Amino acid sequence: MKILSIETSCDETSVALIEATGGVDAPVFSVVDHITASQIDIHKEFGGVFPMMAKREHIKTLPLLLKKILTHTTKTQKEISTEEKETVATILVREPEMLDEVLAIIAQKPDIDAIAVTYGPGLEPALWVGVNTAKALALAWNIPLIPVNHMEGHLLSTLVQKNGDAVINVAVTLPAIVLLVSGGHTELIHVKHWGEYVKLGYTKDDAAGEAFDKVARMLELPYPGGPKIGKLAQQYRDKTTSPQPSPSQGEGEKAEKVTFPRPMMRTDDYNFSFSGLKTAVLYHVRDNPIQSEEEKEMIACEFEDAVFDVLVHKTMRAIDEFGAQTLIVGGGVAASAQLRKRLQEKTNELGVALHFPSSELATDNALMIAIAGYFTFLRNNTLTGETILTLKAQGSLSL
Ligand code: KG4
Ligand code: ZN
Repeated sequence: MKILSIETSCDETSVALIEATGGVDAPVFSVVDHITASQIDIHKEFGGVFPMMAKREHIKTLPLLLKKILTHTTKTQKEISTEEKETVATILVREPEMLDEVLAIIAQKPDIDAIAVTYGPGLEPALWVGVNTAKALALAWNIPLIPVNHMEGHLLSTLVQKNGDAVINVAVTLPAIVLLVSGGHTELIHVKHWGEYVKLGYTKDDAAGEAFDKVARMLELPYPGGPKIGKLAQQYRDKTTSPQPSPSQGEGEKAEKVTFPRPMMRTDDYNFSFSGLKTAVLYHVRDNPIQSEEEKEMIACEFEDAVFDVLVHKTMRAIDEFGAQTLIVGGGVAASAQLRKRLQEKTNELGVALHFPSSELATDNALMIAIAGYFTFLRNNTLTGETILTLKAQGSLSL
């Protein structure tokens, strides 16, 4: 079946068009196109994502991306009655600026079988843009609307590996443990069967990515913080693992090594907490103003090690307890080369398969939403006809 998907939960506006076949046990996805427009440059200036600003950008960008991606389909002209126009206007009551654009898209009905859209979790004003657009299109074109959980999208993002235009389908052996680490979530999930997800633990306060972003701000690094901290941390590792300079070269300039806590690492549950770690960094930089670039690198490295020590330890314990054959890592923090390296070493030792999303699919994207849309469709969780109107964005939806 041909699925059009829409993702607007945070700061990426993304659409994808895929053809999915094979069912749950042997799914095959072919990607017709996949377009993502990032708002990062806009949010960078403000050090984070503001929901209303994200909404405004989605409103501007989504119709453009939809028009572009639908050029790959065969279209038929559709007459829109006054009554239908009124229904679309009612659906888009929160986003009236989009009305004309959405009506123009509706007038060219594409040959697709369903529309998948992220309805949560995420920033509600941002989610509504995608949800309402998808509702208007699905209702007008009389095709099913598939409500997709963004976290299931991240979880399934490893089923295809994308490298530029090349797409490879990946077979994943279950049972699996999934570590989802993003700006909004830190969760460990046990997957016995696709669609049957048991949440083992989650963060009690800050998400791992959020802690990276906040610590980056303390170190005066731009948003998003994860990649910048990762880079500084690696510079520190490279320096400290390479042969030491002779005393005359660098003595006296070495930053004194600090140690931060590993919160909840030894607790019996699978929960996490990163707010205490973040506060430890805050107090450290407050009491010891950073004097050198090397000191900044050292703090970044110790912070990153602390986060990853906890993530790796609890993930490996879950693999052991549930006899998992596979570890899947998803979410923005999965882009970290250091986290990959550490989990690769551990899973190699155990003979457990490790799946990371390709870098293009680690951050928010509509391709993973199309894949999760196919699985959701196969579970019959779709909306048709008037029931399409009942779909609501749910900011704190959980798996
Ligand atoms: O999944 P995502 O794109 O958006 C949501 O939060 O849903 O994740 C973004 C998060 C940000 O907090 C960012 O700092 C973090 O992923 N991130 C990283 C790295 N790259 C991105 N964290 C650690 N190391 C990285 N290399
Ligand atoms: Zn995400």
